[in-house]
Amino acid sequence: MMDYETINRAYAILSPVYDFLFDKIFYPGRVAAVDLLEIRPGNRVLEVGVGTGLNLPLYSRDCNVTGIDISKEMLRKAEERVLTLGMVNTKLMVMDGSKLAFPDDSFDRVIATYVISAVPDPVKTLLEMRRVCKPSGHLVILNHFKSENPVIGMFERLLAPVCTKIGFNTELKLMPLLERVALSPDQMHRVNLMNGWRLVRCINP
Ligand SMILES: C[S@@+](CC[C@H](N)C(=O)[O-])C[C@H]1O[C@@H](n2cnc3c(N)ncnc32)[C@H](O)[C@@H]1O
Repeated sequence: MMDYETINRAYAILSPVYDFLFDKIFYPGRVAAVDLLEIRPGNRVLEVGVGTGLNLPLYSRDCNVTGIDISKEMLRKAEERVLTLGMVNTKLMVMDGSKLAFPDDSFDRVIATYVISAVPDPVKTLLEMRRVCKPSGHLVILNHFKSENPVIGMFERLLAPVCTKIGFNTELKLMPLLERVALSPDQMHRVNLMNGWRLVRCINP
């Protein structure tokens, strides 16, 4: 399991180059993920692990967006983006996704893109996302999960020690994770390069 120190260290180093490395390559998934939220005017949207805020320009201006992240360095970049884009509907906060400081049922939509394998405790984080999402609200997760293909799975296992050092867990499996938090997918898609990332929407029970 990854610890907070490793994650904070990894993203402090990555933050200046994060957009350069991850903007273009992960863009198709971002657009599809925000589309799946089906945001309605006035909706309250929570983005967990908002990072440098690459998704922020994709949200409509008639909803209220709260972005949280554990890394101050990543959030600093997101703040610059919010200022540059004049996104007055967006609030950013340093917060741990596994201990969200919001009351139950606070948000209509909750999203985490490229995050769930980058947190120390994916189960707790998803349970928190569920807790703060209203009943019938949309929960959207976009991530790379461990492949069911044994050959790719073997490469992922080989890469695991390196990936852990830079803050990614390559061993996370989608369906067992969803089962542990009692969520079932309402929509599932494969996105990005070689369809290697999974986009999942669950309707909060
Ligand atoms: C790969 S980045 C993804 C950033 C952004 N969601 C995106 O789509 O570009 C993972 C983010 O998760 C954040 N993170 C890791 N653990 C976290 C936690 N426990 N709570 C909140 N954010 C966390 C990291 O700081 C980092 O900004």
